[in-house]
Amino acid sequence: MDNVKQYIEEHKDRFLEELFELIRIPSISSLNDHKPDMQRCAEAIRDRLLASGADKAEVMPSEGNPVVYGEKITDKDKPTVLVYAHYDVMPADPLELWNSEPFEPVIRDGKIWARGADDDKGQGFMHVKAFEFMVKTGQLPCNVKFMIEGEEEIGSPSLGNFCEGHRELLDADVILVSDTSMLGPDKPSITTGLRGITYMEVELTGPNKDLHSGLFGGAVANPANVLCELLASLKDDDNRINIPGFYEDVVEASTIERKEMGKAPFDLQEYKEALDLKEVDGEKGYTTMERTGIRPSLDINGIWSGYTGEGAKTVLPSKAHAKISMRLVPNQDHHEIAQLFTRHFEKIAPDSVTVKVKTLHGGQGYVSPIESTEYQAASKAMEATYGKSAIPVRSGGSIPIISTFEDKLGIKSILMGFGLGSDAIHSPNENYPLEQFFKGIETIPYFYKYYAQMK
Ligand code: BES
Ligand code: MN
Ligand code: MN
Repeated sequence: MDNVKQYIEEHKDRFLEELFELIRIPSISSLNDHKPDMQRCAEAIRDRLLASGADKAEVMPSEGNPVVYGEKITDKDKPTVLVYAHYDVMPADPLELWNSEPFEPVIRDGKIWARGADDDKGQGFMHVKAFEFMVKTGQLPCNVKFMIEGEEEIGSPSLGNFCEGHRELLDADVILVSDTSMLGPDKPSITTGLRGITYMEVELTGPNKDLHSGLFGGAVANPANVLCELLASLKDDDNRINIPGFYEDVVEASTIERKEMGKAPFDLQEYKEALDLKEVDGEKGYTTMERTGIRPSLDINGIWSGYTGEGAKTVLPSKAHAKISMRLVPNQDHHEIAQLFTRHFEKIAPDSVTVKVKTLHGGQGYVSPIESTEYQAASKAMEATYGKSAIPVRSGGSIPIISTFEDKLGIKSILMGFGLGSDAIHSPNENYPLEQFFKGIETIPYFYKYYAQMK
């Protein structure tokens, strides 16, 4: 890949301005008010794909937000790479914790600060610019297809059917994704596993209206109190999840595998300092990397009830709610876990409250082999630009559609992400270092090169 560094150097200001145009569109998939932004963002990406060298690009309808499809097919005998990314982002709140406007990107300390700067506009856009480089310099060794969706952050509810309806259009040899992170700016790694997820919401109802907590307190169950007790009981003293059957299908990693995993560079002290923590916490008997990589987890994502406004109000609330996610590992099935959770939660709730349990979304995990041609191509690409070999790492995050791609399209994915643990994705002050953005654009063309050679 001749001159990729030079090409980036010459065009980097334009690359950033183009990315910023996408970031300025607040394409938040979980908020209905932002529907028009989804369409606008999809159209902007379509236009960008066309300007970057795609022969065809369109905004295609799905049951939900539109999917952007683009392609450049040069030779039926060459391998085809399907690039997947998502243009939707998480809500930006709490807004008051941002140091600058979430949808007005700024560059400070060598980083882009904005919602979507990394996840996944910044990372997704690296592929569009790497593609531009290969097309404009006559060095595109593969056919390329792009599929950029707008519902990843809500669990990709429409993309499975979209794939089934467009099997031929999406036919490819490999799916290439940059929506994960690497171990550090100088610690290249490739993600070989993602956790599955089951996302639940529970509602507890006590009395039929909010009550005076003096007149009724002590005599009527407070659903907020009960909710706390029920949630607390979901984990035991060793931080194991207390739902019967939860661990039944968990594949235990072998001692050898765990030893291999332990070789990845990880500094617990640094990890704690970055989070201002005195101590970490997790399942007994496992390291921090293992706790996110190969073990399941359960977290309350949100919890609300009663009076949370200014000052004090004495009230015994009628209702209490919580959103709970469980991260799953091979071979746990998200449907089954949702069922186990529902059954268990309904069972442990006392008669003093009524309980409603809802599944919000779910998705299976993913593990990719490291012996495959596509993994080797990604590994060589990383080595070409970082000068050292990439370490395979199982991530704790989830991209549920990756396993659906394998099921519905029969295509494996390569998770070559350039995010960093410090990028604050989903948090206030999300950021993406310029170095990562440009290094990604530099590395991606090498994947194409080696993949075309090895395939
Ligand atoms: N890009 C992330 C997932 C990710 C980030 C994986 C870093 C590995 C390293 C993705 O956009 C994401 O946030 N996924 C959600 C999925 C959920 C909403 C179904 C997640 O993991 O919470
Ligand atoms: Mn993402
Ligand atoms: Mn995300």
